[in-house]
Amino acid sequence: MERLEVKNVNFSFGFKEILEDINFVLEKGKVISIVGPSGGGKTTLLHLCSKILRVEDGEIRNSFHSSSFAFQEPRLLPWKNVIDNIALGLLAKKERKDIAIKKAQEIALKFGLEIDDFTKFPKDLSGGMKQRVSFARALVVNPSLLFLDEPFSALDIGLKKELQNILIETINKENLSVLFITHDLMEAIKLSDEIIVLKAEPVGHIAKKFSIDISRDKRDDEFVYNETAKFLKDKIIIDSFELELR
Ligand SMILES: Nc1ncnc2c1ncn2[C@@H]1O[C@H](COP(=O)(O)OP(=O)(O)OP(=O)(O)O)[C@@H](O)[C@H]1O
Ligand SMILES: [Mg+2]
Repeated sequence: MERLEVKNVNFSFGFKEILEDINFVLEKGKVISIVGPSGGGKTTLLHLCSKILRVEDGEIRNSFHSSSFAFQEPRLLPWKNVIDNIALGLLAKKERKDIAIKKAQEIALKFGLEIDDFTKFPKDLSGGMKQRVSFARALVVNPSLLFLDEPFSALDIGLKKELQNILIETINKENLSVLFITHDLMEAIKLSDEIIVLKAEPVGHIAKKFSIDISRDKRDDEFVYNETAKFLKDKIIIDSFELELR
């Protein structure tokens, strides 16, 4: 069975402790969201899980057959156009060029980019367009595990919903697993099987884990609003996000 297992992980940058005693397991076909305040170590944790950073204390075991990553900043190659950027991973996997281009074009259209955009270079794209290219590039290779670092943060609400729905469709159809980082509690509630709240102070640690058992298809807007309202009343959430609600 494919899974990602994070056990007793601690991490420091130099003398600065960033993460302490992180433990969780992501199973095949599941979505775990990590939420928490800025600077709490979410991106660092994702980089450890995806082996961009080396684990020095604790253990991370990943038995997923394949994975891909959409970074917090889109990291597109400036000298390649939209389609060539999306096709990168496919070509790296030795996909035939014409097939790679065709798949890249299809996913670009699905993600709301237009034919006119295909030959644009990153410098001529809006922030939201860059994010869509980056997300498309990660999804087009059909990974078993997807690492997503705030992939929808630069999108307007309509587009965000559309891409969330594409993600949900892929999770259901391909049994995709996702480790998802977001600031957006509503997004986490809509997408996740489990939400991990990372508290920044004094060192990044897991303050609480919530499971959401109801099937993703049944989570309509009303469910998401109601659950979010409940979450925002939870003392640990208030504490972790340093919210001062009255
Ligand atoms: N390469 C690095 N060298 C030293 N410190 C770093 C490095 N990368 C991140 N940090 C520090 O690690 C801490 C956690 O950063 P990280 O990017 O993981 O936070 P985050 O939770 O993803 O924040 P955000 O929500 O703003 O993206 C911060 O204090 C940051 O300054
Ligand atoms: Mg981050």
